[in-house]
Amino acid sequence: PSHVLAIDIGGTKLAAGIVDAAGTLLDVARTPTHVEEGPDRVLGRILGLSRTLLGRSPVPVQSVGVGCGGPLDTERGLVQNPPNLPGWIDYPLAGRLREALGLPVALDNDANAAALAEFHFGAGRGTRHMVYLTVSTGIGSGLILNGELYRGKRGNAGELGHLQVRYDGDPCNCGGRGCLEAYASGTGIARRARERAARHPESLLARLAPDPRDLTAETVLTALRAGDPVARELWDETLDILAAGVASIVNAFDPERVVIGGGITNFGEFLFPPLRERVEGRAMPALVSGVDICPAELAEHVGVLGAAAVALRERQEVLV
Ligand code: BGC
Ligand code: NA
Ligand code: ZN
Repeated sequence: PSHVLAIDIGGTKLAAGIVDAAGTLLDVARTPTHVEEGPDRVLGRILGLSRTLLGRSPVPVQSVGVGCGGPLDTERGLVQNPPNLPGWIDYPLAGRLREALGLPVALDNDANAAALAEFHFGAGRGTRHMVYLTVSTGIGSGLILNGELYRGKRGNAGELGHLQVRYDGDPCNCGGRGCLEAYASGTGIARRARERAARHPESLLARLAPDPRDLTAETVLTALRAGDPVARELWDETLDILAAGVASIVNAFDPERVVIGGGITNFGEFLFPPLRERVEGRAMPALVSGVDICPAELAEHVGVLGAAAVALRERQEVLV
């Protein structure tokens, strides 16, 4: 049975792990991405993590799986200028890793990878129609339709963070406008929080971050917990925007389950009960009845386990 090196490339964090064919994480290592340093330096850090893990692995590793923000050309192993990896323009990530590590490399979208992991090992078990939505630095998704990951012509299907929920809305890093990601991702929430804090300097939200650059989605959660009305308004708006996105997803795919992962799950009870209620109010009643909107189960390991699923699928050890 195989062991694989799994690499998850996020806009803020890099993670790598050694995983067996049953989805057991045997070892893991993490480091910040420092995306502003560009692809070559980030690749250097990925190789650092990889060599550390390979060096201390008691079992031989047969291949490498990588999950990375898209768009990608998965066949040629290229990263094609993702919204949250500025400067990665047709970057030959898979080829560089293959050369440096001497192992076969399979590349897929980070959210597609995480969807596979939740489907096989987590909250998607037992379903055949599941949408995984990650709400983190960016927003991505993976579509499991008829029990299989739906990839589209080059592996880029399911860019649901770029569902345009406002037709004349704010510009998004993808080049579009009014995207779900522009409003409800970690960076979108922080951007809107800064605008509100500037309008309400007396609010707790503003006072928690005297330097507006320190205002993040986490600050919003802290202010929300303390009952700050300005944070409450911002969060209600965020819930409405997310609900518009999830309702459109339900109407498009008729899923059994929508699994939500990423940093936003830290909002816990502030997120799930009100989101369910709002999605029910917006989606077509016949489609939304009985749809389960639930948190991912694999928590902070979902990215690495997803990347492992990508490598295992390539080796046909996970049949999807
Ligand atoms: C990208 C997706 C990615 C998501 C989460 C989005 O900006 O377009 O490909 O899955 O961020 O990283
Ligand atoms: Na995707
Ligand atoms: Zn967009």
